[in-house]
Amino acid sequence: MTGPGAKILIADSDEVNLRLVEAVLLPLGYQVALARDGDEALSRAQENPSLIFVSSQMPKMDGFGLINQLKTGQTTKHTPVVVMTPSTEVEVRLTALQQGADDFLTKPIEKVELQARVHSLLRVKAYNDHVETCQHEVETEVTRRTESLKQSLDKIKTASLDTIYRLSRAAEFKDTDTGAHIERMSHYSTAIARKVAPNDERFLENILWASPMHDIGKIGIPDRVLQKPGKLDADEWEIMRRHTVMGAEILKDSDVEFIKLGEVIALSHHEKWTAAAIPRASRGRTHPCPGVLWPWLMSSMP
Ligand SMILES: [Fe+2]
Repeated sequence: MTGPGAKILIADSDEVNLRLVEAVLLPLGYQVALARDGDEALSRAQENPSLIFVSSQMPKMDGFGLINQLKTGQTTKHTPVVVMTPSTEVEVRLTALQQGADDFLTKPIEKVELQARVHSLLRVKAYNDHVETCQHEVETEVTRRTESLKQSLDKIKTASLDTIYRLSRAAEFKDTDTGAHIERMSHYSTAIARKVAPNDERFLENILWASPMHDIGKIGIPDRVLQKPGKLDADEWEIMRRHTVMGAEILKDSDVEFIKLGEVIALSHHEKWTAAAIPRASRGRTHPCPGVLWPWLMSSMP
């Protein structure tokens, strides 16, 4: 509250000055709280006054120490504080300003000056309260919308991963593997990759999303080869091996990070741990790049 009815705290060990200020403010409709030392002032400041007057001269804790505590306290840091001082010395006023004082009144207090100072500082307090309320509302709205966006993104991710599983399952539909194999394998891959790069969440998510597409090229392998019950002859092996190249062809030229990774995985997932056939772009990286990691991952799969 910053109009009539607003609470104003006055801290002064001088009883005469306390009563004088009280006598001016009460008829104007303000609530007045009195404190006779710094400790009492700090205690009464928790009652959320709209304005605080502090005498520069008080026993135990002086006015400057009190202002410092008021301006660093959570509930009072934005409350205007006026220093009442008999001194007109610049140094005294400078010290008060350094501690966070907002204004000065020279003792003995002059009635008209006190009224004018109260009026103007309560307007400042009202403005500050309004700004703080708006800021709080903006922060609340930003938090709400951020959470809403995060939920939407999570839904999109879930839907995208589900789509990848289903398309990859379509590619393996002709094969002997089951749909569950695709999901199981992508989670195995991510679990193993987490041992290699435990803090690289982006890499791990890319592995989760890209790994199901490793055999997507099988969609181009004839059934007579893919579903042949016995051993494949040399020609049939050549055809079967082409599923890596066909998979990379399906996934190539994408701007999407996990599909680019999927292209590398599709091309290299049957390579051995010699790096001989690893794509040039993946060589020489210190990070466990997918082209290096993947042959090892896939050779570990049951
Ligand atoms: Fe394969």
